[in-house]
Amino acid sequence: MQITSTATWKAPDSLQSRLQIQHFSPSEHSPIAVGQDVIKGLTQSPKVLPPQYFYDDRGSQLFEQICALPEYYPTRTEAWILHHYAPAIAQCTGVCELVELGSGSSTKTRLLLDAYQQQGYPLHYQPIDVSAGILTESAEQLLTDYPSLKVQGWVGTYEQALAKLPLATLSQRMLFFLGSSLGNFTPAACDQFMTQIATVLAPGDYFLLGIDLQKPKDILEPAYNDRQQVTAAFNLNMLSHLNWRFQGNFDLGLFAHQAIYNPVETQIEMYLHCHKDHQVSLKELDLSISFQAGESILTEISRKFDLAALQIQLESHGLKPIQTWTDPQQWFGLILCQA
Ligand code: TRP
Repeated sequence: MQITSTATWKAPDSLQSRLQIQHFSPSEHSPIAVGQDVIKGLTQSPKVLPPQYFYDDRGSQLFEQICALPEYYPTRTEAWILHHYAPAIAQCTGVCELVELGSGSSTKTRLLLDAYQQQGYPLHYQPIDVSAGILTESAEQLLTDYPSLKVQGWVGTYEQALAKLPLATLSQRMLFFLGSSLGNFTPAACDQFMTQIATVLAPGDYFLLGIDLQKPKDILEPAYNDRQQVTAAFNLNMLSHLNWRFQGNFDLGLFAHQAIYNPVETQIEMYLHCHKDHQVSLKELDLSISFQAGESILTEISRKFDLAALQIQLESHGLKPIQTWTDPQQWFGLILCQA
């Protein structure tokens, strides 16, 4: 091949040349270091488990099924807002690298990509997810569907991503965090997270946040207690995940899924309720735990927000809300902030 050739014809970029997937140095984490959060959670009273353990490959698949359930309104409602306002978002931000925390199947991302493509902007997408399987699969599907797209994916937790994310290749970036995943943080963790976001973003960069808003209990509770029991399977799958990851012997038959709305904290609380006294061991963590009939493990909270209060909180962290969109029922909100 002639290197000095001035050929104007270029082969269409192959899929692989537009895809990079990297893991945030897994070598830094011995299984013990990774499992410290499990040990801490199961040895405290009441017991808790870190929600990140929901998302092994099966958990990510079950979560996709949750998003399509008739009772689970958040995904549909957020997609409705994006469908209507993604063009406005693209016009607001201009050319931007799109960085997504917890990308999952990247289904809603397509609405943003469509809007940026329509503006004629270059499409650079950095998805971040703890589940390598779903990340790779959805990245490959996106590359097939968007011939000019470049994807640089990262397998890791939000904390790893925010600590190590390389600088944008385009001049600006928009970090986005959809699905009301912010609601899965405690108020203290939420504050810390906003501080981290503000640190990672350069002045002028954007942050797009999707959040579930407060509404009556008779809409909220069914969304987390679906008739087909997919949410129950998702919650229980965390125990299977811990079994394979840490050589555990959780018996899924001894636990039941529970989701209860706490009106004081305005949050859904997800539990695994134990109905028999028994012992569980996690060999890899050198851990043995007693369970009593009637006790519960808290696996997730899902806070429901007041839009005005959240806007003030974002602003106080240096993330200035510049536009907010909701659906006609005001069930869900999308806030675009600028650092
Ligand atoms: N971010 C989602 C939410 O809070 C996560 C979620 C949906 C979830 N359904 C769940 C977490 C069931 C645990 C169990 O709505």
